[in-house]
Amino acid sequence: MAFKPGSQQTMRAISIRSPGGPEVLACTFHPIPLPQDEEVLIKVEAAGVNRPDILQRRGFYPPPPGASEIPGLEIAGEIVALGENSERFRVGNRVCALVAGGGYAEYCVVHESNVLPLPEGFNMVEAAALPETFFTVWTNLFQRAQLKCKETVLIHGGSSGIGTTAIMLSSAFGAIPLVTVGTEEKRQACIALGAHLAINYRTQDFVGEVKKFTDGKGVDVVVDIVGGDYVARNYKAAALNGRIVQIGVQNGPAKELNLMLMLTKQLTHMGSTLRSRSVAEKAQIAQELEQQVWPLLRQGKLRPLIFEVFKLEEADRAHALMESGKHIGKIVLKPSQPAT
Ligand SMILES: NC(=O)c1ccc[n+]([C@@H]2O[C@H](COP(=O)([O-])OP(=O)(O)OC[C@H]3O[C@@H](n4cnc5c(N)ncnc54)[C@H](OP(=O)(O)O)[C@@H]3O)[C@@H](O)[C@H]2O)c1
Repeated sequence: MAFKPGSQQTMRAISIRSPGGPEVLACTFHPIPLPQDEEVLIKVEAAGVNRPDILQRRGFYPPPPGASEIPGLEIAGEIVALGENSERFRVGNRVCALVAGGGYAEYCVVHESNVLPLPEGFNMVEAAALPETFFTVWTNLFQRAQLKCKETVLIHGGSSGIGTTAIMLSSAFGAIPLVTVGTEEKRQACIALGAHLAINYRTQDFVGEVKKFTDGKGVDVVVDIVGGDYVARNYKAAALNGRIVQIGVQNGPAKELNLMLMLTKQLTHMGSTLRSRSVAEKAQIAQELEQQVWPLLRQGKLRPLIFEVFKLEEADRAHALMESGKHIGKIVLKPSQPAT
């Protein structure tokens, strides 16, 4: 059914009542946002859950200026209205999008340049699981760290949403992914996805294992979501001219850093967040993804790993699952599924 502006004023969406645990998430009524210049309004069928949403809920990752207070960074659904000068899509197009907030809702607005078509053969849940990790991994691995065919890449947290995407994308472009994981089940899942080596960080030293695998050379690229004492160890695990991309600091600030290693190995250590980047920067990533990765999705060569799907009202359960660390791959909410 076509959306008629003004025909429905409110939508269900998730609010963060106050910073805290999963119980502070509540499903409440909000005004349906109106698409502004060059924006589209999407009826959200599925929304991905990401670790940054947990940080936002705890009060450590506020939305950037102008972004919705409603959590949720990625969605898939149908376009139901166009803002002024929005020309890329038509009402009725099935799409997925990277959003700066507002994804945990029945409707969400986004600049048309941050929207991508639903890859052929993908359902809405699979499509909603793409944007946040594919944009993040693409920009960090390929644009910033310049990962090349036949190079080795150490991916910390191989079974995470980010990690599973990094395994798939690095393999698809001919690189050799090695990962760290916390359990045997996760080790097996990462090997099945294409990791050449999966190191259990609870029982093995990743520096030693990486050195063994690379005949003492070290890895060309490291993707780190952990921080803390991993930073110094990443420098040890890196090869000459190694590039280290810091995209998370789950274990806090770096400790006892040997900067001499950075000099002698000619290392480059860089970091970034995706959410705070401008619409134009995200549009540029979207364009590259559409040209270079969307064909692989259409051909069935890449598919996100979906762990569990929850109704919108169950966002608290989805967050609790993510914080338990039991998941492998992505957790998704389905606002289109009616509450019971
Ligand atoms: N900078 C950006 O633009 C950006 C964008 C998106 C996400 N991120 C960051 O990327 C990270 C992953 O996000 P996600 O949504 O994919 O979350 P997720 O699926 O919940 O993954 C978290 C992962 O951290 C791993 N981990 C925890 N401690 C570890 C350790 N000591 N060594 C190795 N791995 C460890 C866990 O693995 P085990 O269960 O095996 O311990 C788990 O796989 C988060 O830190 C998030 O903030 C950054």
